[in-house]
Amino acid sequence: MDTGTQAKWDRAARSFDLMAANGPEKRWRPAKLEVFSHMQPDARILFLALGTGLDIEAFPANCDITAIDISPNMVAKAEERMAAYTGSIRAEVMDVHDMSFADESFDQAFTSCTFCSVPDPVDGLRALYRVLKPGGELHMFEHTGSRVFPFSFMMNLMSPLASRFGPELNRDTVANVQAAGFELREVNNVFLDTVKTISAVKPQRD
Ligand SMILES: C[S@@+](CC[C@H](N)C(=O)[O-])C[C@H]1O[C@@H](n2cnc3c(N)ncnc32)[C@H](O)[C@@H]1O
Repeated sequence: MDTGTQAKWDRAARSFDLMAANGPEKRWRPAKLEVFSHMQPDARILFLALGTGLDIEAFPANCDITAIDISPNMVAKAEERMAAYTGSIRAEVMDVHDMSFADESFDQAFTSCTFCSVPDPVDGLRALYRVLKPGGELHMFEHTGSRVFPFSFMMNLMSPLASRFGPELNRDTVANVQAAGFELREVNNVFLDTVKTISAVKPQRD
């Protein structure tokens, strides 16, 4: 367990809803609804990272979801939202870099503002690849860096400071998904080229 990352997000949990629940969450809700609409009720679903559970309201009804987050404080804050969900959500405090799930345990994996935050994104995505079945789907809603000046310059400048308290601002998550072995299916820009939905698949065995 990466205790430094855990402590950072435990601290962020105190004010997370204040910062995220109103503006950002309302703004991104339509795109998140589209991403989560791919959740299938008969699938084994892995969701990361749970945070305070703000995403849960956008989940379709009656799914069977295993959710992880590195921060016990985040998971504790998510409890009420988990209890209100019509399907089943089991939450575990777990580091994506070190998941205890067996290989090929899940049919689908969903991420939401996660791979801006995970310390080693390619390694974390390889861990997701391991626990997905061949043909398993990865659906993501993610903040990324920009390729457009001056946004690229500003995000590279601000990222070291932002990452002391929360996410990094300049990740190339599309390239990271491919580097982890996934096949890209679809990439959509939700806002400029800095907020994206990404769909990918773990290739079937030959
Ligand atoms: C920006 S928050 C997003 C939370 C939630 N998905 C949302 O959009 O409201 C990032 C989350 O990633 C979690 N996280 C960071 N590193 C992690 C890791 N290595 N393994 C699991 N979760 C991690 C943090 O604890 C935090 O809850």
